[in-house]
Amino acid sequence: MNNRIKEKNIVITGASGGIGAEMARLSAQSGANLVLLARSVDKLEQLKKELENEFGVHVVVKSLDVADTEAVQRVFKEVLSEITHVDILVNNAGFGVFRHAHEADLAEVKSMFEVNVIGLVACTSMVLPSMKGRKSGHIINIASQAGKIATPKSSVYSATKHAVLGYTNSLRMEVSDEGIYVTSVNPGPIETNFFEIADKQGTYVNNVKKFMLQPEYVAKKVVERMMTSTREINLPRWMNAGSTIYALFPRAFERIGKRAFNKK
Ligand SMILES: NC(=O)c1ccc[n+]([C@@H]2O[C@H](COP(=O)([O-])OP(=O)(O)OC[C@H]3O[C@@H](n4cnc5c(N)ncnc54)[C@H](OP(=O)(O)O)[C@@H]3O)[C@@H](O)[C@H]2O)c1
Repeated sequence: MNNRIKEKNIVITGASGGIGAEMARLSAQSGANLVLLARSVDKLEQLKKELENEFGVHVVVKSLDVADTEAVQRVFKEVLSEITHVDILVNNAGFGVFRHAHEADLAEVKSMFEVNVIGLVACTSMVLPSMKGRKSGHIINIASQAGKIATPKSSVYSATKHAVLGYTNSLRMEVSDEGIYVTSVNPGPIETNFFEIADKQGTYVNNVKKFMLQPEYVAKKVVERMMTSTREINLPRWMNAGSTIYALFPRAFERIGKRAFNKK
């Protein structure tokens, strides 16, 4: 339970499954009202029913492809007129495809950037003016450990998540005196449908099965830090030690870690 989010308005993108749906469940359990966005509106409707029945909170559902920037503007305008303000935006929608750089499919590359980066920026810019006006709010960007350490076969996905972290760090400094918290979330592998697209052969999932985080656990770690000035949430902790060592000794880290990173 997080009492700070009781009766707060929380918007979650990519809420139709995976950690998005789990964050919605835990936020509703703490008494937050929700706006759930994703392309699969049938799954969102089902989740809305579940949360309204179980927790008595108010849930708004809208179909949104975050890569469609016009739709982002339209949907957020609708949301803001329906619920008056957004206290917390969780930019969670995202996907990855593990592929060698020399096999890059440019349509896929564009799509990954459009969803993971431009979509996240578009959603954020729709809520920032009113958060600044109210001098209150929390932007939570779901990045990845791939945004801290780029590993083979994820050049493009890693690049999108590095971009998310760059954007997030700059934004945090811009709004730090305006009552707005900005948090990045950098998880390692989580057991969700993400890998149905990312890892069609199942090689990575096979190799990292024993390290995989559960979506409920990741969601709990995010929801309990809502409306606090948490800079980053790194999961699991030991994996984040890697990125600290990487920053200090990049050449040695890449040489020694080469085998360990070839998991895809
Ligand atoms: N799973 C992992 O190992 C892992 C690790 C680190 C970070 N992450 C990040 O965590 C976030 C959530 O991933 P997950 O693991 O929960 O994966 P997931 O189970 O595949 O869920 C992804 C969610 O994003 C939504 N989505 C995808 N493309 C979208 C689009 N264009 N517009 C709107 N919504 C879209 C999907 O809904 P619809 O298909 O209904 O639109 C779904 O609700 C992603 O940003 C991912 O990069 C995942």
